[in-house]
Amino acid sequence: MLVAPSMLSADFGRLKEEIEELNRTDCDYLHIDVMDGHFVPNITFGKDIIKTIAKYSKKKLDIHLMVQNTEFFINMFIDLNPEFLSIHIEEEKHINKMLHLIRDNHIHPGIVLNPHTSQSTLEYILKYVDLVLLMSVNPGFGGQNFITSTLEKAIKLKEMIKEQNLQCLIEMDGGINDKNISMIKDCGVDMVVSGNYIFSSKDYQIAINSLR
Ligand code: DX5
Ligand code: ZN
Repeated sequence: MLVAPSMLSADFGRLKEEIEELNRTDCDYLHIDVMDGHFVPNITFGKDIIKTIAKYSKKKLDIHLMVQNTEFFINMFIDLNPEFLSIHIEEEKHINKMLHLIRDNHIHPGIVLNPHTSQSTLEYILKYVDLVLLMSVNPGFGGQNFITSTLEKAIKLKEMIKEQNLQCLIEMDGGINDKNISMIKDCGVDMVVSGNYIFSSKDYQIAINSLR
């Protein structure tokens, strides 16, 4: 299981120390939630802060855009060279074009589905993505409860990926902890985001181990 701690739950007053502590763990990526106050009712990190995170981090970034005007934000983050740059299917009218924009800049493109959005919306786009991020909470805030219907969606998505003979990863984001991780793993999820669970634990590596 790949693990990406969500920086939304970090102590922003000690951001550098938090990143250094994560550098000492074997986590795979740092998950960065970009919110614009329009697509979701919250505002998080702008480019300068994310640049600072990238400067201190030894891990590559997994950027999750929760924004209107997707193209503007894709262009904003290209030069930070994240591992993944993921966009919500609910917001963007020209998904295919945006995925190509991301891939043409040598970044792995991802698509995000809100809890109410069916995996069937991906039928004609799945082959263009390297990652599907399934939201297991309503996007906007850390520390919410896991929505269990996302498990069934992961199983159906895994079947679609197999049917189309693709390699794309399934990532799950929201309300993930040591209690629900084994169910999530059993549904074929490859990577989990975890904010509140990791950052509220005394030892980040022990929390990460429990998710693996
Ligand atoms: C919510 C974000 C998540 C959030 C997860 O909109 O996409 O990445 O930080 O946090 P937890 O693990 O606390 O639910
Ligand atoms: Zn996220």
